[in-house]
Amino acid sequence: MSTAISPTAYNYKVVRQFAIMTVVWGILGMGLGVFIASQLVWPELNFGLPWTTFGRLRPLHTNLVIFAFGGCALFATSYYVVQRTCQTRLISDSLAAFHFWGWQAVIIGAIVTLPLGYTTTKEYAELEWPLAILLAIVWVTYGLVFFGTIVKRKTKHIYVGNWFYGAFIVVTAMLHIVNHMSLPVSLFKSYSAYSGATDAMIQWWYGHNAVGFFLTTGFLGMMYYFVPKQAERPIYSYRLSIVHFWALITLYIWAGPHHLHYTALPDWAQSLGMAMSIILLAPSWGGMINGMMTLSGAWHKLRTDPILRFLVVSLAFYGMSTFEGPMMAIKTVNSLSHYTDWTIGHVHAGALGWVAMISIGAIYHMIPKLFGRAQMHSIGLINTHFWLATIGTVLYIASMWVNGITQGLMWRAINDDGTLTYSFVEALQASHPGFIVRALGGAFFASGMLFMAYNVWRTVRASNPAEAKAAEQIAVVGAH
Ligand code: HEM
Ligand code: HEM
Repeated sequence: MSTAISPTAYNYKVVRQFAIMTVVWGILGMGLGVFIASQLVWPELNFGLPWTTFGRLRPLHTNLVIFAFGGCALFATSYYVVQRTCQTRLISDSLAAFHFWGWQAVIIGAIVTLPLGYTTTKEYAELEWPLAILLAIVWVTYGLVFFGTIVKRKTKHIYVGNWFYGAFIVVTAMLHIVNHMSLPVSLFKSYSAYSGATDAMIQWWYGHNAVGFFLTTGFLGMMYYFVPKQAERPIYSYRLSIVHFWALITLYIWAGPHHLHYTALPDWAQSLGMAMSIILLAPSWGGMINGMMTLSGAWHKLRTDPILRFLVVSLAFYGMSTFEGPMMAIKTVNSLSHYTDWTIGHVHAGALGWVAMISIGAIYHMIPKLFGRAQMHSIGLINTHFWLATIGTVLYIASMWVNGITQGLMWRAINDDGTLTYSFVEALQASHPGFIVRALGGAFFASGMLFMAYNVWRTVRASNPAEAKAAEQIAVVGAH
């Protein structure tokens, strides 16, 4: 097989920028997670100031971890993957740069406005209309760069990872624009265009698909590229990946009502959401198995490769949270879990175990390649990071399961005369030990990110501009 050097090179600049910012926002977002977790243990940490209360910092945490950390990881990897699998440079360097700086501007906007109390009040869609419009423009730019690059690809077929990234881009645009339809009444205040139960339904159609397409489909794109690459094995089944793709995107879009069980939403819509959520187990596990089985014949690599360990353990947590989710979508189970810490545990099984772990693995894979180094500065530190992240995730979710079930059971316990057995405060007191364990688990996870930052910094510092430039060359091997 012949190898030639293409006259054009990849645009790695924007990939490097997004990759580095993934680590920066990861530290800030997770650090803030540890802080708000500590506020639930020691309420004095609210400092009696409106800007530092849990209520204002919680949405900042979710915006930073989902959109800043998760977003930058998705952008870095999608630009890396689309260029490499299409064997071509991004269609426009200036549009890609606008995407990078525009996105950072949206995040800075969130950091300023959310603690000040400016919010639409819609979860995961809190940013007020000027920022929401900026976000929409930046997102459309991203779509243009990504799909434009696919159009000018040098390869015949479109690698399945790009299908997942593509669905994530299209559906996120649709969700964001529809859910943000609102009437501005001042520069920082708008009212939703929808009312009552319709507003709730649109919000959770958005909210659930933010999970489904932002926190899942995009990261599956990542999985389909980085797991085979790191394991140096072809994907287990290409056919399964296609079935996985179509089944996943067809089903996810219907599952939103499981966030609104026992509400004013029509009963049939709740049941439909429940049924679709249960069926969703099948494609979710199909994808998880496809990723896991890619390691057939390469399992021994797990002993020596902590990057592969990050990727494989993330798939295990993906499998776990996509089993738990359908169970929680069953109305009778949801009547116990809803409003409790069980939901929070489920969220972080997905967020820490799946989203963060696969992103971390992918960034460790990419950094040396982006900066022309053979490998990361220290494999030992990646290993330390892996254990901190795994132990942290387990402490987090186990404590939240215990808390959630305790809360659910205590809230519903009634005496013979129909009065409540426990007051709310008693359930809160029972949750206190779990809050401490969660904060500890979070601190484990977040401290791992500091090791990562140091390791990335040492790897980048050891690189010189010539090595970094050489890494951008497109080596065209055979026909691929
Ligand atoms: C060190 C790591 C982290 C810690 C300590 C942490 C802590 C927290 C805490 C204390 C809450 C509020 C829970 C409550 O209201 O009772 C929360 C909510 C949330 N966090 Fe994290 N978090 C971490 C990482 C992440 C990551 C990486 C993501 C996403 C990729 C994430 C996504 C979320 C989401 C979506 C919610 C809202 C959940 C809901 O409303 O049901 N977190 N987090
Ligand atoms: C088949 C897959 C899944 C299903 C059917 C599912 C189902 C559910 C259900 C029933 C809830 C509780 C709703 C409530 O009682 O309010 C929930 C909450 C949540 N799930 Fe999942 N889940 C799945 C996978 C995931 C994954 C992989 C992630 C993260 C990456 C995730 C993130 C979340 C978040 C953030 C919430 C909290 C939403 C909120 O109330 O703010 N889910 N999910």
